[in-house]
Amino acid sequence: MVYSRLFGLGNAGVILIYLNMQITVQHLVNHFQLMPHPEGGYYKETYRSSGFIHENALPDPFVGKRHFSTAIYFLLERGNFSAFHRIRSDELWHFYTGDPLIIHVLNPDGSYTKIQLGNRDNDPCFQAMVPAGAWFASETAPGGQFSFVGCTVSPGFDFADFELAESASLMADFPDHAELIGRLCR
Ligand code: GUN
Repeated sequence: MVYSRLFGLGNAGVILIYLNMQITVQHLVNHFQLMPHPEGGYYKETYRSSGFIHENALPDPFVGKRHFSTAIYFLLERGNFSAFHRIRSDELWHFYTGDPLIIHVLNPDGSYTKIQLGNRDNDPCFQAMVPAGAWFASETAPGGQFSFVGCTVSPGFDFADFELAESASLMADFPDHAELIGRLCR
C-alpha cells in the first residue's frame, strides 16, 4: 500500500514526506538510532534521570538503587511482536505515530486487559498504563504496518527488573489465554 505521511522531525524542525512503510520504518530506525529489543521490536533510551532512588527507599522486589525515571522510543512492525514480559515499575505508554498498538495485559489477579494505544478517530488513546508486575505483550493492530510509541517508567528501567515469560509456565497461570500466550512468547 502506498500513501503519504507527515512527520515533524529533529532539532531543525524538518518536515519529511515518506511514501511507503518500508522507507518509514527504516527511516525511524536510522533517524532515532533504534536498536533491537530482547522482547522484539526496536528501541532507544531517550531519558535517564541523573538522580537515584536509594535502595533502602525501594520496595522489596528491587535490589539496589534505581534512577528516578527513564524513557524510551519503541517501534514495532507488522509481523513482529513484543513478547510477554514483566517489569517491576508501572509503565506509561505514549502513542506517537503509525498504526494503533494492541497491548495485552495479564494482571496478577488473573484478569486480562486489552489496551488499544493509538489515534483512531472514534476511539483515541494516547496514553495508557501497564501496572508493575503484570505480564504484557504487544503487536501492531490488525491491518496496520507499524506503531511508534514511547514508554516511561519510574523507578527507572533496569534489565535486572525485566523478565521474559516462559510460555508453559504463563499458560499454567493463565489457562484461559493459552492461545494468546502461545502466539506471543519467544
Ligand atoms: N529500557 C530498555 N528496555 C526498556 C523497556 O522495555 N521499557 C522501558 N520503559 N525502558 C526500557
